[in-house]
Amino acid sequence: MSARPAASRRTVLRGAALTPVAGLGLTACKGDADDRSAPLTEPVELGPESEVAEGGAKLYRDHNVVVSRSGDGTLKAYGTVCTHAGCPINKLDGTKLICPCHGSEFDATTGKVLREPAVAPLQPLVVEVRNGALIAKPQT
Ligand code: FES
Repeated sequence: MSARPAASRRTVLRGAALTPVAGLGLTACKGDADDRSAPLTEPVELGPESEVAEGGAKLYRDHNVVVSRSGDGTLKAYGTVCTHAGCPINKLDGTKLICPCHGSEFDATTGKVLREPAVAPLQPLVVEVRNGALIAKPQT
């Protein structure tokens, strides 16, 4: 009879010992994901304005930002953290953004969803040109 409580205690202790490990694992993964998919919170310089062609778009993966330029030269920018489950979008095909996680697609010129499972549009950003460089920043 005395072995049973000891076994239970061992089981409990083993469970307790594993829990922090699992917790750390989750925390580390979440932290990594947060770093990669953090929305823009302050202005960032993206690069030369000339990199975005009229009628085209450019994806700045390091900053999770896409900038497009319409035929009349108007620039637009959106955050490229997927609105479905927060993956950083890493593919731009023409002006179509494609999320690697579950295949959602977005229009880089409007931020609108082209293909589910995402249903919410991308975060609109402010984009401006300073000394020939593109600056993206959160809307206020
Ligand atoms: Fe982008 Fe699911 S996180 S489609």
